[in-house]
Amino acid sequence: MRPPPALALAALCLLALPAAAAAAYFGLTGREVLTPFPGLGTATAPAQGGAHLKQCDLLKLSRRQKQLCRREPGLAETLQDAAHLSLLECQFQFRHERWNCSLEGRTGLLKRGFKETAFLYAVSSAALTHTLARACSAGRMERCTCDDSPGLESRQAWQWGVCGDNLKYSTKFLSNFLGPKRGSKDLRARVDAHNTHVGIKAVKSGLRTTCKCHGVSGSCAVRTCWKQLSPFRETGQALKLRYDSAVKVSSATNEALGRLELWAPVRPGSPAKGLAPRPGDLVYMEDSPSFCRPSKYSPGTAGRVCSREASCSSLCCGRGYDTQSRLVAFSCHCQVQWCCYVECQQCVQEELVYTCKH
Ligand SMILES: *[C@@H]1O[C@H](CO)[C@@H](O)[C@H](O)[C@H]1NC(C)=O
Repeated sequence: MRPPPALALAALCLLALPAAAAAAYFGLTGREVLTPFPGLGTATAPAQGGAHLKQCDLLKLSRRQKQLCRREPGLAETLQDAAHLSLLECQFQFRHERWNCSLEGRTGLLKRGFKETAFLYAVSSAALTHTLARACSAGRMERCTCDDSPGLESRQAWQWGVCGDNLKYSTKFLSNFLGPKRGSKDLRARVDAHNTHVGIKAVKSGLRTTCKCHGVSGSCAVRTCWKQLSPFRETGQALKLRYDSAVKVSSATNEALGRLELWAPVRPGSPAKGLAPRPGDLVYMEDSPSFCRPSKYSPGTAGRVCSREASCSSLCCGRGYDTQSRLVAFSCHCQVQWCCYVECQQCVQEELVYTCKH
């Protein structure tokens, strides 16, 4: 077994989190300092800084990452937010797939080189880049604030105003957090690092400059502009498309540089030896399992709700589906009443629900 690279730890921290620290995110961990009689002053509340250090200890981080976490108040919370965001987005993007991103107790995927692994790495780093840039502009971090990049167009009659999302800080922080990029001999580490950067790139390419005009009715004498990230849903969508067209790679040693490079296989008929994957491509090393049956990678598709016209045959893997009927209430026989509202009756309709057989 090779030692887990720092990158794997980062993804693990982000994705295995729901088990360990999501409890901290959503509510009680069981380790809180109890104040059984508030107002009587029996318990001493922990200092702000102390709480922050404790949060860092609860996260699954490498030693170096834990140090960075402890040094930067606000970071632990941002890491948890990012973990939550990446999981939600993954589950949304894969809601119609056989693998629906249910990672509960099934983090085996993170140690493999499937297309799904590639997506997980990319969506984790994208979520952290996004969340951190937002946390800076929202004033939740101590060491960063609004985006202060000078605009190329700054000679025009507009000024930077409003707090912009600080992508510059967040990408710089992330590359430090993930550790130095060594010329690794390990294909897996190369693939993970590549996919991590696809995620960061996806957030970067969603950065927009938004402007607002000021001045006498539309004269736009002064414009205020700021950098704004696109909603994370759009980034998730972009990464899902990358997943759909992910490129299978193998390795080749670059003799001149003396290190390992990623190579995508040639298309049939092409004379070239191999192509380096494009920087925006998600890359993977091994074909995915079918995800039909429960395994260490997925709970299988038994019990999944499907659409008879669209998805049942592929989602249920040929095992067939059960049909249940349920009653759904809806508004009907609506009439406009004098004056001026609409009155409806409640009707009940039978609806069929299809679920994959065991
Ligand atoms: C994923 O599918 C499993 C059944 O295979 C189901 O139990 C689980 O709730 C689903 N997860 C999500 C997030 O939809």
